[in-house]
Amino acid sequence: MKPIRIALTKGRLEQDSVQMFQQLGYDCTALREKGRKLIFPVGNANMEIVLAKAADVVTYVENGVCDIGVVGKDTIMEMGGTFYEVADLGFGKCRFALAVPMGVDFYKGYHTRRIASKYVNVSRSFFEKKEMDVEIVKIEGSVELAPILGLSDAIVDIVETGTTLKENGLIIQEFLGEISARLIVNIASLKLRKEEIDTFISKIEHYLGTEV
Ligand code: PRP
Repeated sequence: MKPIRIALTKGRLEQDSVQMFQQLGYDCTALREKGRKLIFPVGNANMEIVLAKAADVVTYVENGVCDIGVVGKDTIMEMGGTFYEVADLGFGKCRFALAVPMGVDFYKGYHTRRIASKYVNVSRSFFEKKEMDVEIVKIEGSVELAPILGLSDAIVDIVETGTTLKENGLIIQEFLGEISARLIVNIASLKLRKEEIDTFISKIEHYLGTEV
């Protein structure tokens, strides 16, 4: 049978994901010596790992070309999609925040605020709940620049240590929610490869239960 394919998010979550797989007993040597390769066999398990950008992890799992994915809740909230979210993996913890330049009273006055964010859907639904009319500008990265450059009044972004905000003269106005890495599973895979995927999920649950 073809290997179970797992998509891991490159970058921020990569190291913790690989560490988790190693601790589950999967040999990730190929992944640790990766060079520029993007797809790796896992020891002698009938499994392979691919490395992809967060949004692509969701796309691959949703379309069934990967059975399982590890991706941040931020990406899941932004993209939505049809898959099972089966576990909170507990790493990659950070928060969504609305941040403003220090000394600015964000809610003062009646003008339409401009919000810069990579997360336009998360931002839109946050302000819709407040029944506040805002203009949202999509920025791909280093969003903290947008208010400094005068493009926006505020940003919606993920905050981990708070260092990036601080070093760019921004402060948190409000928290929007908690984020961490999640395990997602393709809907058809969970039926068709039930035994293998259930075994994998049980291993993860056991690992999460024994972690200190
Ligand atoms: C994220 C986020 C902030 C920063 C927050 O960016 O967009 O810029 O990390 O982390 P901190 O609170 O620990 O300072 P990332 O490094 O993922 O890169 P990006 O700006 O290119 O999206």
